[in-house]
Amino acid sequence: MSADLERSGPADQAVTNDYDSFAEAYAAETESNLVNGYYTRPAVLDLAGDVAGRRILDVGCGAGPLLAALRDRGAIVTGIEPSAKMLDLARQRLGDSAALHQGGLRGDPLPFPDASFDDAIACLVLHYLADWKAPLADLRRVLVPGGRLIVAVNHPFVYKLLHPDAQYSVIREYSEDNTFSGQSVVLTYWHRPLHAMTAAFTAAGFRIAVISEPPPAPGARERFPDELAKVPLGASFLCFLFFVLEAA
Ligand SMILES: C[S@@+](CC[C@H](N)C(=O)[O-])C[C@H]1O[C@@H](n2cnc3c(N)ncnc32)[C@H](O)[C@@H]1O
Repeated sequence: MSADLERSGPADQAVTNDYDSFAEAYAAETESNLVNGYYTRPAVLDLAGDVAGRRILDVGCGAGPLLAALRDRGAIVTGIEPSAKMLDLARQRLGDSAALHQGGLRGDPLPFPDASFDDAIACLVLHYLADWKAPLADLRRVLVPGGRLIVAVNHPFVYKLLHPDAQYSVIREYSEDNTFSGQSVVLTYWHRPLHAMTAAFTAAGFRIAVISEPPPAPGARERFPDELAKVPLGASFLCFLFFVLEAA
């Protein structure tokens, strides 16, 4: 089954979603909230496992919370981020303990030599991209053979749950209202069905090692009892989908 592509509204992936305009609000909101602090980041760190001594690239590193956690676990960390303001927050957090670059998956090759990283992380980034072909090929290029790409991305089934009339199989742009630290923000994403994700990964030269739908992290239930009241103990918290991909 192939995925058709449907585009509506603004679609320039270089300028979509201006994190400069809400960098501080996003960073403050997501520092220790449920979705990021008690779900996404712990899940990515769990999947990464023992990273001591590994050279890790965080693409779309935002304000650098994952880089800080990976650094604290002994990794040698590099971040790249298109938003100058997000990058500035990352610099404030990390000082010279991380190599930080402005840029991203925006058409130009990443500014790194071939095979320069053991792992790469794309945490909540790929769903901003209409086309995954060139970005995934470039991520594969900068990884050593056997290196890992760890991905967290909007869960395609959640899109269908929230938009029951939408066609699941169509790669489609859509927008959602968000509030970060009281600031209203419209984010625009690309829905991509699961088969289109897995096909893009394998076409770029990755082997799918893990697909994960993790539960919230320990401590989440005590801290966010209302939000998690309807999630059975130990059950997945369906929000994002996580992958560990191995560079063939
Ligand atoms: C939802 S935030 C996640 C930030 C960080 N990965 C984290 O988990 O805290 C998405 C980030 O992706 C960045 N971004 C958007 N488009 C991008 C692209 N084409 N390439 C790389 N990063 C991008 C944004 O500027 C923003 O910092």
